[in-house]
Amino acid sequence: MRFLIKLSLAVSALAVVIPIDEASKSVADSIIGPHIAPGTEIYFLPNANYPIKFTQRHSSFANPGYAVAVQPLTVLDLATIVKFANKHNFTYMATGGHSSSVGFLRVRDAIDIDLSKFNTIGLDIDRNLVTVGAANTLADFADTLYKAGKEIPTGNSPCVSAIGATIGAGVGPMQGLHGLMIDSLRSVEMVTARGDVVTASKTENPDLFWAVRGAGANFGIITQATYAVYNATNGGKHVNADFEFGPGSQGALFDLLRSWDSDEVYPKEMAISVTLGYNRKARLPTISVSAYYFGPHESARPYLQQLVALDPTRWQNETLGWNEMTQAAGFGQTFAKACVGGRYTSHLTAGLRRTDPATWASVFASFVEWTAARPWFRGSIILQRYNAGVTRRVPEAERGAYPWRDIGTLVLMSNTYDGPAYDAEVNTFFQPLRESIYKTSGFDSPASTSTTATVMRARRRGMARACLGCKC
Ligand SMILES: Cc1cc2nc3c(=O)[nH]c(=O)nc-3n(C[C@H](O)[C@H](O)[C@H](O)COP(=O)(O)OP(=O)(O)OC[C@H]3O[C@@H](n4cnc5c(N)ncnc54)[C@H](O)[C@@H]3O)c2cc1C
Ligand SMILES: *[C@@H]1O[C@H](CO)[C@@H](O)[C@H](O)[C@H]1NC(C)=O
Ligand SMILES: *[C@@H]1O[C@H](CO)[C@@H](O)[C@H](O)[C@H]1NC(C)=O
Ligand SMILES: *[C@@H]1O[C@H](CO)[C@@H](O)[C@H](O)[C@H]1NC(C)=O
Repeated sequence: MRFLIKLSLAVSALAVVIPIDEASKSVADSIIGPHIAPGTEIYFLPNANYPIKFTQRHSSFANPGYAVAVQPLTVLDLATIVKFANKHNFTYMATGGHSSSVGFLRVRDAIDIDLSKFNTIGLDIDRNLVTVGAANTLADFADTLYKAGKEIPTGNSPCVSAIGATIGAGVGPMQGLHGLMIDSLRSVEMVTARGDVVTASKTENPDLFWAVRGAGANFGIITQATYAVYNATNGGKHVNADFEFGPGSQGALFDLLRSWDSDEVYPKEMAISVTLGYNRKARLPTISVSAYYFGPHESARPYLQQLVALDPTRWQNETLGWNEMTQAAGFGQTFAKACVGGRYTSHLTAGLRRTDPATWASVFASFVEWTAARPWFRGSIILQRYNAGVTRRVPEAERGAYPWRDIGTLVLMSNTYDGPAYDAEVNTFFQPLRESIYKTSGFDSPASTSTTATVMRARRRGMARACLGCKC
């Protein structure tokens, strides 16, 4: 409560009127008051405008608990807030995009630093660079660059924050052509955990730049980031194809995935996402495949034909601008659905170097049996196969902290269900299921894209200096 009073005094000129404790006023005013631009929104929670004006978390799983929410207008405001929080030992968390990462139960009575006002995107065509703010999404990237005849690797869902995805590596469909999002990152402007405003790039604060590329959320708050962009492949026109299969096709599908394990065989222009689910009404397993091919239909056809040969119950293909791809995927349904917030969803991930059809037959059968008996569960298992040739060939000196460049297929267990009462039951089933996937993954030790592992790696490399003062 000490916290609420102090901060309220600091911003007494602002939107929310709170009872003032004169004793704390001068302290807080002297720290924050002179630096905060008029117009910076500060809410003490609960506040009726908070859900409308501030970015809300995508999933309600293991949510952080906030006492105050601040929406800074400038990088200097942000630095002031961070210094204030450090000085008074308050936990804070940055909110950029749709806030989908989960597992923040230890963040309690914290300051929600909402970055919504950092929302400009600028393209420098002559130098092939794009600069985005912390609130810009992957859809902003696609729209701006497509119109200019350029492209950049992004993720699967248009609603994800561009910087939020990047600081965990940024995995996505164009990875086969251009590598991970971190491989295109050139520099960031950030407020460090100590409250200093710095630029990090290959030449300025290179250690910090290394850490940001994989473990970014732990070293400071990034306000804007600059990336290299590329001329659009095939004029920016690509093939999107969607398939649905009956349960009888699964064996052949897993065999096809195995035949595509090699990056010599599976084209760098291709990206597929396989979703294994369960249709409660029909009481049947469901399998859908969403495929992108970055190039003309003639080049895509030989690969799409291999999926057509598996006897889909329904399929279609179309040629689209690359800015329309993620919205079109899954017969126009998948990612529109993925972007709906407010559900209780947790994620478990795993990385594969190879596909073991027997493992997948068994994983899918257990998943279906378990799900069929639990009407409160609405999850699916997603396998994303991207060519990892470019990602793997990035020289050590250019790599950054992210260690999982060998992953050819990313597995995502997306578990949506009716709330915390079922957490234990979900974990008891999915943790061992993931262990069984690891066993035949082709990796000696479990590979997942969890940032915790990446942060541990950054710490081992002696990143304590950059991390000083932060709560990681
Ligand atoms: C539907 C869906 C689809 C997805 N698809 C992909 C995909 O295709 N490829 C992919 O790589 N990932 C994907 N993700 C994962 C996503 O990239 C991560 O969850 C990412 O952390 C989201 O960033 P965010 O800012 O929206 O989330 P948040 O949960 O708000 O942020 C994650 C962490 O980063 C911190 N953070 C946020 N912004 C900043 C900032 N500007 N500076 C410093 N720290 C910051 C937060 O404090 C938090 O600790 C997907 C997630 C969902 C829900
Ligand atoms: C800071 O806060 C944490 C918990 O939020 C507490 O454990 C720690 O002792 C505090 N440190 C100081 C110096 O007050
Ligand atoms: C990108 O396109 C521009 C304009 O068409 C052209 O001048 C340039 O050479 C191209 N760059 C590459 C790397 O192909
Ligand atoms: C696939 O695309 C080709 C080329 O546009 C088109 O001729 C064909 O009808 C499409 N097939 C389906 C099932 O969508």
